[in-house]
Amino acid sequence: MNKKNTKKESTENSNGMEKIVSLCKRRGFVFPGSEIYGGLAGTYDWGHFGVALKNNIKQSWWKKFVDARRDMYGIDAAILMNGKVWEATGHVANFADPLDGKQFNTMLKTEVGAGEEAAISYLRPETAQGMFVNFKNTVDAFHPKLPFGMAQIGKAFRNEIAPRDFLFRQREFEQMEIEYFVRSETWEKYFEYWRGEMLGWMEEVGINMGKVHELEVLKEDRAHYSSRTVDFYFDFPFGNKELFGLAYRADFDLKTHKLEYTDEEEGGKMVPHVIEPTFGVDRAVLAVLLSAYMEDEKDGEIRSYLKLKPNIAPVICAVSPLLKNKPELVEYANTKVYAPLKEEFGRVAWDDNGNIGKRYRRQDEIGTPFCIVVDFDTLSDDTVTVRDRDTGGQERVKVSELTRFIKNKI
Ligand code: GAP
Repeated sequence: MNKKNTKKESTENSNGMEKIVSLCKRRGFVFPGSEIYGGLAGTYDWGHFGVALKNNIKQSWWKKFVDARRDMYGIDAAILMNGKVWEATGHVANFADPLDGKQFNTMLKTEVGAGEEAAISYLRPETAQGMFVNFKNTVDAFHPKLPFGMAQIGKAFRNEIAPRDFLFRQREFEQMEIEYFVRSETWEKYFEYWRGEMLGWMEEVGINMGKVHELEVLKEDRAHYSSRTVDFYFDFPFGNKELFGLAYRADFDLKTHKLEYTDEEEGGKMVPHVIEPTFGVDRAVLAVLLSAYMEDEKDGEIRSYLKLKPNIAPVICAVSPLLKNKPELVEYANTKVYAPLKEEFGRVAWDDNGNIGKRYRRQDEIGTPFCIVVDFDTLSDDTVTVRDRDTGGQERVKVSELTRFIKNKI
């Protein structure tokens, strides 16, 4: 695997998880679910910065795998599906983990409808089926030629026997999945192609590729629907564990749902085969955070910061008046710097709390790439200080150039 990002510029991840979990809570990324009622194992609530980080990661995925392509069709299917779907796919019979010698089905069961009308169903354990059951709708609406794919981002639920390791194993989580339909004889070529695309995206969002490993999953360990699986593992502080997966589902799902494709090129009906790249959003967030977490020494103190890529960071820049009790600085910072940047980028913070050093540390901890300070010189020369998160270096930039300056860095 790629050994690029191993530059030793600071000590990373000394005690890994505790620091990340505590930072996430303290700085408003991720909170334990239902905390004031004693919590609910396997659930987490996302705070302001966590939602922003997660959205940026999801957007980068959607942009690369849907918007930038001509052969991909997005979908947002219902979480609740007819119970017959899960009977047909074998999930009712097979989606289970061993518990005290018996198989415990990990789908979350629910009742849909009232009284006599109530039907048993399940909160979907994978987003994949929402795509397969809409295969015909998608073909009829868009008439795609093979190969083509469907893509979905959405929640999935599993009644995990032992949820653990923060965002890693939850009962409610999110997936980003692609079902890519190909002619059966080409599956190996597209399997390799998607392996490369997956690695490319991991690098784009800032996952430390030196910690990613591929594992060919043995037949006896594969999901019941898969004819080949390669898992991507990541060196988490709690072990080398599955991050994402790539499966060759062959014609398992389309055959199960009795779906076909009319092949206009070759003539006649056929059943395409499926390559499935699957990504857990929460595991992606965790791997990005662990890859970005850094510690170094600044001004004789240890500082921790998140070296997030600017397009992924929850806040792209923070704006501060040097002193909060000087109305002329506050007025300038607010109207001439903060307001236009906020309008342009949205994810811009106003920070006038404590001294400048404290503000920098706070922004470093949430991974803000740039801190902009309005000082007394600004009032006469219309320039501001832009401080770089990673180097701590500062430069003066014209206020009129700020938007372009930041756009060039994203
Ligand atoms: N449609 C294929 C599928 O669902 P999976 O390997 O069972 O395959 C896909 O799940 C991805 O979803 C995993 O690679 C992982 O990133 C994420 N995932 C699975 N279970 C999870 C859990 N309990 N908590 C958080 N993420 C999970």
